[in-house]
Amino acid sequence: MAQNISLTRYLVEQQRIDDKIPAQLRLLLEVVARACKSISQAVNKGALGGVLGSAESENVQGEIQKKLDIIANEVLIEANEWGGHLAAMASEEMDTIHLVPNRYPQGEYLLLFDPLDGSSNIDVNVSIGTIFSVLKKPEGQAGVQESDFLQAGNKQVAAGYCIYGPQTTLVLTVGDGVAMFTLDREQGSFILTQENLTIPADTKEFAINMSNKRHWAPPVTRYIDECLEGKDGPRGKDFNMRWIASMVTDVHRILMRGGIFMYPWDKREPEKAGKLRLMYEANPMSWLVEQAGGLATNGRQRILDLEPGKLHERVAVILGSKNEVERATRYHDTL
Ligand code: AHG
Ligand code: MN
Ligand code: MN
Ligand code: MN
Repeated sequence: MAQNISLTRYLVEQQRIDDKIPAQLRLLLEVVARACKSISQAVNKGALGGVLGSAESENVQGEIQKKLDIIANEVLIEANEWGGHLAAMASEEMDTIHLVPNRYPQGEYLLLFDPLDGSSNIDVNVSIGTIFSVLKKPEGQAGVQESDFLQAGNKQVAAGYCIYGPQTTLVLTVGDGVAMFTLDREQGSFILTQENLTIPADTKEFAINMSNKRHWAPPVTRYIDECLEGKDGPRGKDFNMRWIASMVTDVHRILMRGGIFMYPWDKREPEKAGKLRLMYEANPMSWLVEQAGGLATNGRQRILDLEPGKLHERVAVILGSKNEVERATRYHDTL
């Protein structure tokens, strides 16, 4: 791979090749990347920057917010308000949408984000990240309302995440495969380090929070029990397990080496489809996984085809290596 292709150069060249990235979308993605760089700096300071611990406030999800949840949210809002590429934003950490103030030019894109994913890992120095999804504002209308965000994941025009780990890495799709950029702190820019990420169709690695086993529905229990039976069981091979409890990190591992990630419905909160949020966790991650040759379902259907009813809607998630997601989903048809 040619050295030193920056994110900006990559986006300009992608725009020139197949115009998948109009100038306004390129601007938006560069602004999001710059915001992620600022979040990465705050994350790296940790206790030295006073960013650890709880903020004592609660978000619309009913979660106690961490200081970094709020810091990351504010960084993304401030970075994206003035550029003229956005009409409004939605976030895990905001009850409703955030309109671009009238003093700034209004754009045609809608940005959704989980500003800090994996919050339970912040204070114990385990990798966390930011997840983002871009939709287009419906044509031919002046203002923006929350219902304009309620579009299926198959309507996304860009999706990605930035993982704050040993490296700070931005992973992005605009519908033409998945590219990965690593932050070069000396230059202060994201450098292309991998293109066309591909998830192997088979795997021996599953990711699920096993402590919830007694709450799962039978198809999930069957699928995991068979993995645990190993080579003497019906799968004929031994499996390994990973659960980092930052979706961004578990999904990154799967994009890099395969695997299946499951956060299924469970009977602790039967009225909720699952723990993860459709609009700014499951949809962007599902598009990335599909663009890398994997699959993403809620156990019954393709996540990207789900029509959202509410901005903070939950969804069950099974995603990763194609053949394993197909099997786990098929079990939902039989049980
Ligand atoms: P967030 O920190 O943005 O609220 O998301 C946390 C999510 C997701 O990142 C992870 O896969 C899952 O919660 C972990 O849930 P458990 O702590 O129940 O394992
Ligand atoms: Mn999250
Ligand atoms: Mn979050
Ligand atoms: Mn949260």
